[in-house]
Amino acid sequence: MKNTKSRVFSGIQPTSEMHFGNYFGAVKNWIELQEKYECIYSVVDYHAMTMPYIPTELQSNTMNMVIDLMACGVDPEKSILFIQSLVPEHVELCWILSCYCSYGELQRMTQFKDKSESDKMLEKGNIVSSGLFTYPILQAADILLYRAESVPVGKDQEQHLELSRNIANRFNSRHEIYFTEPKALFTEVPKLLSLADPSKKMSKSLGDQHVVRLFEPEASIRKKVKSAVTDVGPKTDTLSPGVANLFELLKACGKMAEHGELMNDYNAGTLKYSALKEYVANGLVELSKQFIDRKAELTGSSRDIEAQVHDMSEKARVIAKETIREVRDLVGLPKRRD
Ligand code: TRP
Repeated sequence: MKNTKSRVFSGIQPTSEMHFGNYFGAVKNWIELQEKYECIYSVVDYHAMTMPYIPTELQSNTMNMVIDLMACGVDPEKSILFIQSLVPEHVELCWILSCYCSYGELQRMTQFKDKSESDKMLEKGNIVSSGLFTYPILQAADILLYRAESVPVGKDQEQHLELSRNIANRFNSRHEIYFTEPKALFTEVPKLLSLADPSKKMSKSLGDQHVVRLFEPEASIRKKVKSAVTDVGPKTDTLSPGVANLFELLKACGKMAEHGELMNDYNAGTLKYSALKEYVANGLVELSKQFIDRKAELTGSSRDIEAQVHDMSEKARVIAKETIREVRDLVGLPKRRD
């Protein structure tokens, strides 16, 4: 039976261990979308090569990301979850589309500017690679290869998505209407800040003390939340970023009743930050326990996850190959024998 659901594609870079910033900011939404859409999700290891990295770590991080996503609820029965580099058609389409994207367009990408000027690039031996520059074309290829209609992404990816649409549009006007112009699927996601420094985003690149990991031991979660920065400087009428962040986390954990109660306390001037922190820690620990149990189940089951992700990558590849076959024909490349 042909799938009539609208198709969604999204990608996530492999990192050492998923944290609650990733989960609440993107992955939770991925899980929910599975109910209404035909979802294709990818761990984009080719993308991870654009910044300095360690090969053995990339390999293990990629597999870990697959397992973590499944532990969070990405379900092979409902969606395709695959590893980008197991579908080499991504690079082939990337090359073809690079001939449909101007140098000037790439130069305007703000993420390239940010990453190429980051501290990491100043370390000895690191270069600003042309892969980093053409990264958005690979992203366009990811999406267009599956002719996805919608792409759940954060606001930071808006510019890349617009470029994907421009590339699709340019291709379509030179040949025929072939590619779908992908729409961004923005959902309300909490902007979680670092507990240790609420002037910054919750991000692994700042260091482990700035994130709460999904599979972190309970004692360590509680310790991080307990030592979260709350009020810095003189008291004002509005919530300080640190306190607002704790409220945000409580809401993200689904603790709406507690959120309401504690907010009333805050407004009445009777809120104890220690109580707020305890509720937040409880919420995170509760979720973390679910993920840990699910991960143990997955890694302990007879169904080999590695084999499973290879199977799903093969499924993705069937779709990808079909697109490449048609695209090669449109752009004037010879038919392949297989
Ligand atoms: N660039 C995205 C990010 O850093 C990851 C990504 C790669 C992606 N390919 C994609 C996201 C395709 C959506 C669709 O978050």
